[in-house]
Amino acid sequence: MSNFRFLRACMRQSVDVTPVWFMRQAGRYMPEYRALREKHTLLELCKKPELACEVTLQPLRLGVDAAILFADILLPLEPMGAPFEFAKGEGPVVHSPIASRAQIDALRVIEPQEGLGYVLDAVRMIRRELAGRVPLIGFAGAPFTLASYLIEGGKSTHFTKTKKLMYGDPESWHALMGKLAEVVRRYLRAQIEAGAQCVQLFDSWVGQLSPDDYAEYVQPHVKHILGDLMALSPAVPVIHFGTGTHSLLELQRDAGGHVIGLDWRTPLADGWARVGHDRAVQGNLDPTVLFAPLDVVKKHVRRVLDAAGGRPGHVFNLGHGILPETPVDVVKAVTDFVHEYRA
Ligand code: CP3
Repeated sequence: MSNFRFLRACMRQSVDVTPVWFMRQAGRYMPEYRALREKHTLLELCKKPELACEVTLQPLRLGVDAAILFADILLPLEPMGAPFEFAKGEGPVVHSPIASRAQIDALRVIEPQEGLGYVLDAVRMIRRELAGRVPLIGFAGAPFTLASYLIEGGKSTHFTKTKKLMYGDPESWHALMGKLAEVVRRYLRAQIEAGAQCVQLFDSWVGQLSPDDYAEYVQPHVKHILGDLMALSPAVPVIHFGTGTHSLLELQRDAGGHVIGLDWRTPLADGWARVGHDRAVQGNLDPTVLFAPLDVVKKHVRRVLDAAGGRPGHVFNLGHGILPETPVDVVKAVTDFVHEYRA
């Protein structure tokens, strides 16, 4: 049994106070991150373990209960044969988006040590530098979310090309999803072997799908990853995260995860009841609430904590990542408030 309240909550063990961390807790809202970004590109921060380590540790001054590896969900695409860049103001751009079966067949199912060794080096370095202060979360993108970037070439509103392949050529779709799932499975296992004490699977855009389509086109591939990780002994907590997933929660739970992510559109008590109290939940403050006056912020935080009702198995977080303009002092105030809260 762990002494870390974050890991204990993931496994629904009793905790002294509710643990809290924030998705995208290392990033542009922090002045020390922006200072490093003036000197380095985002990919440099990811690829140089000393820099990734430095950025990972930056948010610890806020008092959060976990560190999350600084990396990006898109990193595996490059060694698989689909290079990309982060274009200024546009987000990620994949140079040759997938438009044919031949491109899918050409994608390499890599071993993480091959093209992602720098991430594993960062994990080892961060564990050393953390020296037991808080546990380290590793992560990867889920197959649907990664496929959407590969096919659309970047961010998308309607996911038209992605769904065109999914509906129009299911055989190629499953070939692509199968390759992504196997790479992600190996990658998360490798992060755990390197020292990650928990892993989160980010299926950020899967809420675009109906339950029937999720069950047919996505769930088997997520099960391939999470079924494997859930069988690890000793157990390593696995967080299964998505947004816009109100109609998918039961299917996501069935695909796997000790902890299911909830976004703010699902009231936490309802979402937890549907997921089942034999799983932990993470969430679910609306990230834009952090722009409100502090008394309003606290009202919303209290609402989330009261919905969890002190039941073991709640990890406080936002329903999605921190936005770039978020005031740092509000993030710190929320962290303290969660730690001080008594129902
Ligand atoms: O949480 C953390 O602190 C760890 C770091 C982290 C990053 N990306 C660094 C990053 C994590 C967990 C991610 C995950 C990620 N990356 C997701 C899933 C999570 C989510 O928010 O849904 C997605 C969809 C991506 C892909 C990605 N990377 C996009 C769409 C963008 C552009 C976003 C933007 O606002 O411009 C990125 C860039 C990126 N990855 C940044 C950071 C801190 C932006 C910072 C910068 O430009 O310096």
